Parts: sequence; C-alpha cells; structure tokens
Amino acid sequence: MSQEINLHTPQSLDKLQETALLELEAIKNESSAEEFRIKYLGKKGILRLLLKSLGTMAPEDRKVMGAKANTIRALVESKFQEAHWRSNTEDTRDRSFDPGLPGFPFHQGSLHPLMQIRDEIRDIFSSMGFSIDYGPEVETDYYNFEALNTPAHHPARDMQDTFYIDESIVLRTHTSPVQIRVMEGQKPPIRSIMPGRVYRNEEISSRSYCLFHQVEGLYVDENVSFADLKGTLLAFSRRFFDEKTEIKIRPSFFPFTEPSVEIDVRCFLCKGQGCSICKKTGWLEVLGAGMVHPNVFKSVGIDPEKYTGFAFGMGIERIALLKYGIDDIRLFYENDARFLQQF
Ligand code: DAH
Repeated sequence: MSQEINLHTPQSLDKLQETALLELEAIKNESSAEEFRIKYLGKKGILRLLLKSLGTMAPEDRKVMGAKANTIRALVESKFQEAHWRSNTEDTRDRSFDPGLPGFPFHQGSLHPLMQIRDEIRDIFSSMGFSIDYGPEVETDYYNFEALNTPAHHPARDMQDTFYIDESIVLRTHTSPVQIRVMEGQKPPIRSIMPGRVYRNEEISSRSYCLFHQVEGLYVDENVSFADLKGTLLAFSRRFFDEKTEIKIRPSFFPFTEPSVEIDVRCFLCKGQGCSICKKTGWLEVLGAGMVHPNVFKSVGIDPEKYTGFAFGMGIERIALLKYGIDDIRLFYENDARFLQQF
C-alpha cells in the first residue's frame, strides 16, 4: 500500500497527512483503530517506511522532507491517541438505558365523578352571582333541626334517619343547617350555595348509602318571589342538563319552606318519551325547594316582614346516577379504578 504513494515530494506528504486525518475521523471502535495503527504507525506502516526512505534521498531533500515527515508523524500519533480514546469511551458507554424505548404508561389521576358534578353545579351558580359557603359535618341538633323549624317530636324528623352522637349532637342529615349559619353571619342580600357531605342511618343498597353529598342553595333579599325560584332553577337546569329542558314543579313538604315544592326535569335521555332511567314517566326528580319559612328567618334574626327568600337542596349522587346512567350508588364509594377511570 505504501508503495502506491509517492512520498518524495512535499506535496505528496501534505496529501498523506490529509488522508490520514480523514481516516482518523472514521475510527469508531477497537478494530478500526487497530487497522489504522497498523496501516500508519505499525512497523511496516506508511510513516515508518517514509522515515526509512529518507536515507535514500539526496542530503538537501532529506533535510526538508525529514522535518516535514517528523511533524506529520507526531501529529498523526497524537490524533490517533485521541481518536482511540474517543472510540473506546463511546464503545463502553452504559447502554442499559435506551432513550429510544417508548415510555411507561402514566395514569393521570382525575377528580372523582361526584366532585366533577359538584364543581359543575358550583360553577353554574357562581356565574349567577352565588357565593360558596361550608359548614361542619358534625352538627348540633339545633342547626340540623330546631332552627329549621323542625322542633323535637316534629314528625318531619322521621324523614331523615339520623346518626346521633349524643342527645344534642348529630351527623348532619342535610346541608340545610349551613343556611342557618350563613344567615347568622351575613345580612341580606344573600346568595349562596353550600355543597357538602351528609349522613343518614339508612340500610345500604344500590339506591341508598349511609353518606352522600348535597348542594344547598339560598337567596334572600327584599321582594324575592316564587317566580325567582322558578327562573333560577330553570336557568340552572338548562345549563346543567340540556338547553331546552323543561321543569315541572310539584307541591311537597319541608318544615323549613312554605310553600315547599319538588322539581322534576324532563328526562334528558329519552326527552320525555319514557325510558328506564325515568322509569317511563318522562320526568326526573332532582331537587327540593321552597320559600324560606318565616320561622326560619325569625330564628336567625332576619325580619320576615321585610325579607323573603327561596332555598333548595339537591343530591349530587342522584344527579350523577342519572347523568351517567349508573345503577348502583355504592360504586361511588368503592374506589375501584376501573369505575373511576371512566370519568
Ligand atoms: N334538606 C332537604 C333534604 O335533604 C332538601 C331541601 C328541600 C333543601 C327544600 C332546601 C329546601 O333548602 O328548601 O331532603
């Protein structure tokens, strides 16, 4: 190979250096480094032969060519060390981590479906100017019943099976006691919604659970009328269920409102035709409501001659069951990821 290169002119030495440096760049591993070493730096390598051949040159040529040949050898030798080291370090890198592999699937958590419904309800009412209030889950008999016009021995206490902690302390059976706390703390006008957890001593089944969630609503000002109740809850239903939904108002009874009503919305699934969700009635029962009873105003020191108001309460589980077509309320409390990941 060396014989093919005419090494007896300075130009040919330049060419040799250029080729050697190019080949150095191509060194990628131990075997290509060894190949290079033998070709240029080995006993029979080009650079050795070059130096040997100096002896056959005329003395004046030898001086020039010798100096140049030595420089090239020194350069190629040091560049070779570098390239050899580079190829070695690259080769021995830890390859147990492959950045090209696809990543591990990462399950992002999400809000519990009940909390999603709660937030949706909250956002609709807050866009109508309602603020948000909270109250304690362990409540006194006074706030849970008395102040809501439901004295001891009132038959309406039977409507809610109560967990008693002692004679005067209960786990709240509804979010209505928060109304009382809000009215004690603020002067009208009051517009508030009060979400939270409530407890009832009921047999656990696909339809009922010992705890569930409600959202309470309260609007108190001068001249608040039943038409305001109707308009507000219709607007809410149209935003929450379907923009064309209709509501039906049925008379009902709650001790803390007079008159009291229950509100049904047109079944959003069958649009009123009758299906399994609405039990063929075309209507879904969604909330209780009414005009705040004057006795309730009296218990918080608001003048019932000057102020009127409406209140309502809805169960979040009930709305979630309807909205998602779920047939067992217990699913909300079992934390089965296969269920929760669907929301
Ligand atoms: N607290 C009632 C319940 O749990 C729901 C309710 C009905 C709340 C009428 C109200 C209301 O504020 O005015 O069944």
